[in-house]
Amino acid sequence: MTTRTVLVLNGPNLGRLGKRQPEIYGSTTYADLVGLCEQWGRDLGLEVEVRQTNHEGVLLDWLNQAADDETPVVLNAAAWTHYSLAVYDACAQLSAPLVELHISDPKARPEVFRHTSYVSPHADHEVVGQGVDGYRQALEHLAGLLADPT
Ligand code: DQA
Repeated sequence: MTTRTVLVLNGPNLGRLGKRQPEIYGSTTYADLVGLCEQWGRDLGLEVEVRQTNHEGVLLDWLNQAADDETPVVLNAAAWTHYSLAVYDACAQLSAPLVELHISDPKARPEVFRHTSYVSPHADHEVVGQGVDGYRQALEHLAGLLADPT
């Protein structure tokens, strides 16, 4: 089986997973998440690279590179999801599959600003409200799409 590289990109404050509002995001740490995604990837025959940044330009550079390399992406853009036109534009140029992911379900949360997503218009699939297991589901979905793009 050829191993396909997949990026799991995480936006602001997700490096604080496990410490940040555990009642919403759970107790799994970001370091644990990285290990889990790598293991889930191996199980699916995917080479998974997990990254997190608090700097929007860094995420844009990663998305631009993913566009050039035609790399599939799982994206949790965190708060940028809800207002970044730059993230919208960067996602627009991706040609490989894009899965939008949120640990919580933003549309079920009380803050109205969370009900808008600038990622969704470009996403092939969305996983929301599944906790950290959502990353496994997103990778599983990507593996399926890559195995059978039709
Ligand atoms: C989040 C949801 C966003 O509304 C929030 O700003 C985040 C995390 C999630 O994974 O549930 O930082 O993307």
